[in-house]
Amino acid sequence: MAVLVTGGAGYIGSFVLRALAARGIDAVVLDDLSTGHRRAADGWPLEVHSCGDSERVAALMERAGIDAVIHLAALSIVGDSVREPERYWRHNVGGAEGLLTACRKAGVRRFVLSSTAAVYGEPSQLPIPESHPLSPTNPYGDTKVEIERRLAQAQASDGLAWAALRYFNAAGAMPDGSLGEDHPVETHLIPLALRAAATGGGGDGTELTVFGDDWPTPDGTCLRDYVHVLDLARAHVLALDWLDGHPGGSLVCNLGGGEGTSVRQVLDAVRRATGREVPHRMGPRRAGDPAVLVAAVDRAAAELGWRPERSDIARVVEDAWAWERRRGHAAP
Ligand code: UFG
Repeated sequence: MAVLVTGGAGYIGSFVLRALAARGIDAVVLDDLSTGHRRAADGWPLEVHSCGDSERVAALMERAGIDAVIHLAALSIVGDSVREPERYWRHNVGGAEGLLTACRKAGVRRFVLSSTAAVYGEPSQLPIPESHPLSPTNPYGDTKVEIERRLAQAQASDGLAWAALRYFNAAGAMPDGSLGEDHPVETHLIPLALRAAATGGGGDGTELTVFGDDWPTPDGTCLRDYVHVLDLARAHVLALDWLDGHPGGSLVCNLGGGEGTSVRQVLDAVRRATGREVPHRMGPRRAGDPAVLVAAVDRAAAELGWRPERSDIARVVEDAWAWERRRGHAAP
């Protein structure tokens, strides 16, 4: 058995490779390296091109004896997707379409998709169940809804078995600091807060801006559901097991810690992990941010036997700090 991991040189993909290896499963990486890093997939065969090139992907699948795909390659910055919706559609939906065509040609029948909480939009129910209406508030979320639809179509036409894993806020790193997130432009709360703490902020532009403290939440800042990247990675391997047991079946699963953590609580966790204050100021709300996003995670438990094990915020932040220190973002 060999799995094609698209986006395997990216943040979550590089952890998925290691979770597969821990189960003795071979993987081949397909990544265009537009945001990923060759070193994150060091030790695995790597093909550098886009998923949209279906002829080339089908040839790779046949050559490497691929029998399942884990598809993580995508553009995923919400704000960028608002500014450049066509690029997002072309890259994300076009990429998935090419991959599905290749699966059909090469006879690959199992597909795990990296999906997102952004498919739900503003929640009308909390915690958010998978049955919540799909109403994204940004083009990034739109692309993932469309890809889930295409998977259902491929299931009907070709008998493809698929699982869509809807991640909430992926965070954390390898506990020894050897692997973590490394985005060309960082927009996520935890790495930004750690860097602000590390450098002491001040006039150098690293002070964190908290996007609003007037939300209808207990402390006025947004609540998010942080899930450790090691927990996420493990769920992908369990999803492959599920697909093995359900030929032609489909599964949509939230992956979250199942608890809301406010921005202020994240800053407290950063202070405890680093022993330093987080220089920050209150700013206006960020457009498109819902006040609260928390996952209902009972389906993942029932279907996959998955439970978050390392997703409490203290652990997540400590591991992310180990990574930031090791890569030199922390001043002595
Ligand atoms: N935040 C700040 N200041 C910052 C950055 C973030 O206050 O400088 C706040 C945000 O307003 C939000 C929380 O911190 O309340 C988390 O923000 P992130 O940008 O880290 O993450 P998001 O919740 O916006 O986005 C994440 C993923 C997306 C995914 C989305 C699902 O990064 O890919 O969850 O809703 F689409």
